Amino acid sequence: MANLWVKKPIEQLMMMAADSDKGLKRTLGAWNLIALGIGAIIGAGLFVRTAAAAGAHAGPAVTISFIVAALGCAFAGLCYAEFASMIPIAGSAYTYAYATMGEIVAWIIGWALVLEYALGAATVSIAWSEYLNLLLGGAIPYEWCHSPMESALVGGVMHTGIMNAPALVILLALTLLLIRGTQQSAIVNAVIVFVKVAIVLAFIALGWQFINPANHMPYLIPANAPDAILADGSTYSYSGFFRHGWGGVLTGAGIVFFAFIGFDAVSTAAQEAKNPSRDMPIGILGSLVVCTILYILFSHVLTGLAPYSDFMHEGKEASVAYAIRAYMPGYEWLATLITVAILAGFSSVILVMLMGQSRVFYSMSNDGLLPKAFSEIHPKFRTPYKSNWILFVFVGAFAAFIPGSVAGDLTSIGTLFAFVLVSLGVWVMRRTNPDLKRPFKTPLVPLVPILGMVVCTAMIVGLPGPTLLSALGWMVFGLLIYFGYSKRHSLLQK
Ligand code: ALA
Repeated sequence: MANLWVKKPIEQLMMMAADSDKGLKRTLGAWNLIALGIGAIIGAGLFVRTAAAAGAHAGPAVTISFIVAALGCAFAGLCYAEFASMIPIAGSAYTYAYATMGEIVAWIIGWALVLEYALGAATVSIAWSEYLNLLLGGAIPYEWCHSPMESALVGGVMHTGIMNAPALVILLALTLLLIRGTQQSAIVNAVIVFVKVAIVLAFIALGWQFINPANHMPYLIPANAPDAILADGSTYSYSGFFRHGWGGVLTGAGIVFFAFIGFDAVSTAAQEAKNPSRDMPIGILGSLVVCTILYILFSHVLTGLAPYSDFMHEGKEASVAYAIRAYMPGYEWLATLITVAILAGFSSVILVMLMGQSRVFYSMSNDGLLPKAFSEIHPKFRTPYKSNWILFVFVGAFAAFIPGSVAGDLTSIGTLFAFVLVSLGVWVMRRTNPDLKRPFKTPLVPLVPILGMVVCTAMIVGLPGPTLLSALGWMVFGLLIYFGYSKRHSLLQK
């Protein structure tokens, strides 16, 4: 009779970490890891969701929404850092759960991470396709850049999508890069990170002088704010609890949470870090701090340039480029640069997400829970190339045929769920293995893990009902696979 709660002995994990001659190559230093984090973090969340949250819920106080979301991530991030320094092998939250809470929990968390990384990559590749089309002036026919589930009136004619081809192209290019090697991927990532951080800084510095203080007054949307006019001519009232004041700030936090997803991806690369016990916490917490500061400044400038209600109408799409064109005369070039930076920025998000997913699969496959193909290493490049190809097919199918909005919320649920379990895991581990060497210790246990669980659970509850149901469906499907395949093939069970 198999034991669903069997735990992976921590000593065995340590041995795997030490024995990296056969497996993945240790090539990443602290700066690489911070860059990896920033690569995965700054993307659609900042460039798309900031304006959406400000326009519909938080107004200029979207800066406070960022602080709330950052707090939730910081609590979870502190827990991730302890684990990542203590169990420095690939697989992130999945691996931690295997050591602390048992196989079935590890499986569930691994399956939730697929929502985060694989669907996260799909979501951002769909956004990439939209921005590419914007840059090309709409040259790609509607049919070839939308999923079959989407249709629209274009020029008086009804069009329905066939497949999202640009999303597939970017996924293919990044898959090929990932197969070439982690270090090559890290170099490309570092270049992109440099470009996107430079552009964000340029926007902050140049936009600062165009801030109109009147746009920041009052700072929270008042309950009696005039209705916003939407693109289709209808109106949007701010009177609901979650559409003004502190309620709006909270909803805004749930929306901009997406902008932080990815800092934990650093932990999936633990087995490729040169000095994981020191550099993992630096990578995770460092990238989180850098991004939080950038986000607050960026959103301060964005909401200072344009009144928040603009983001419900003429500034609803490509909001950042809109704000520059409308309120920063003489800086049109910056609007174009921003679009290019966004495309580059999205690419690095996809890159790190795909990498994270293949490393989680790598660990699950090493444990026998997934077929061997997921952990086979390329003889020359030493990357899990088969896994990369399988992922390309899987993520590509979502990106080509499913609308981005569906994938986006599922990504948030999977991530938050993983955060909750990692926070719980740190606390459990302190009790079950108090003497284990912890190069980095989460402060104030159990307070920090409890706060992490509470804040992240609150954000899950706030997500739309149908999305929660889809996520539940995904988890049930995962359990069928576990009982049908993984349990019987688990090496630990044998
Ligand atoms: N944080 C990533 C983004 O905003 C997922 O695109």
